[in-house]
Amino acid sequence: MKDQIMKTQDENIIGHYQDGGLLGRIDAGLRAAGVDPENVKAEDLTPVDEFHIGGREMTLRILSMMNINKGDQVLDIGCGIGGAARTLVSKTGCRVTGIDLTPEYIDVAKTLTAHCGMEGRLQFQVANACALSFEDETFDGAITLHVAMNIEDRVALYAETARVLKPGADFAIYDVMRTNDEALDYPAPWASSEKTSFLKTPQQMRALLNDAGFDLIREEDHGDTARAFFQNLSPDANKAPPPLGVHVVMGADAPLKIRNTMKNLMARRIAPVIMMARKR
Ligand SMILES: C[S@@+](CC[C@H](N)C(=O)[O-])C[C@H]1O[C@@H](n2cnc3c(N)ncnc32)[C@H](O)[C@@H]1O
Repeated sequence: MKDQIMKTQDENIIGHYQDGGLLGRIDAGLRAAGVDPENVKAEDLTPVDEFHIGGREMTLRILSMMNINKGDQVLDIGCGIGGAARTLVSKTGCRVTGIDLTPEYIDVAKTLTAHCGMEGRLQFQVANACALSFEDETFDGAITLHVAMNIEDRVALYAETARVLKPGADFAIYDVMRTNDEALDYPAPWASSEKTSFLKTPQQMRALLNDAGFDLIREEDHGDTARAFFQNLSPDANKAPPPLGVHVVMGADAPLKIRNTMKNLMARRIAPVIMMARKR
C-alpha cells in the first residue's frame, strides 16, 4: 500500500515536470538567439538550464562556499537538465553525477551536455533521491538545488545523502522553505498542487540535517533575491518574453506559476534558503 502511494506520488511529480516538448522549446529558443543547438557553449544555455531562483549566479555563490577540487566526484541530487552540474564541472574540473526522477529531464541533460562537448565529465541517470544505488562514501561533495520541496520522506533523503558522502564532505542545499503558516497559491514552479509539495521550515531543516549526521556551517535566507528575481521574470504585457529563460522549462502555464510564486513571496509564506552542511 505504502509502495503504491509512493509510486503514485512519483508519477504525479514526474507529470508536473515532464511534457515531452522541452528539448524542442530549448532548441527553438537557441535558434531564435542565433545559436546552433547542436554546437553550443555551456554559457549559451545559462538563461534556461538552471531551474532555481537566481540561476547560475546562485550556483556560483553556492560553489564559492564549498570545498570542491579538480578530480573530485560530486553528486547533484535532482539535477534537472544539468545546468548546475555543467557549471560545477566548468568551474572546478570536478566530475559530476546527476540523478533525477524525471526521465525527460535526464534525456535533455544528456543531450545538452553532449551538444556542449562535455559528456566525458558528467553522467546522468534516472533515480529517486531517497533510494540511491551508489556505494557508501562514494562522493566528495553533493548539491541539491530546489528539489526537496517535492520530497515527503526527508529522513530517507538525508540518510541516503549522508550514506554516499565521504566524512568531511560538503553538502549544499538550496531549497524553498516555509516562513509562515498561510496556505500557498498553486501551481508553483515545483508543484501543481499541495499533493506534491512538502516544504519545511528552516528550524525543521536544521534538526533533520543534524539527525542525519551533518553539521550546519552556513545558512542564508534569499527571500529578497527571490522577490527581485520573480519581479524580473513577471511577464510584461507590452513585450514578448526572451527566447530563453526558466519560463521555457516551466511550460505553458509559466505566467501563472510566476504570478503565484510572487504572491507567496510577497506574503512572506516562503523563502529560498541556502544551507551549507558538512558530513560529520
Ligand atoms: C525545480 S527542479 C530543479 C532542477 C535542478 N536542481 C536545477 O536547479 O536546475 C526540481 C527537480 O527535482 C526533481 N525531483 C523531485 N523529486 C525527486 C526525487 N525524489 N528524486 C530525484 N529527483 C527529484 C524533479 O524531477 C526536478 O527535476
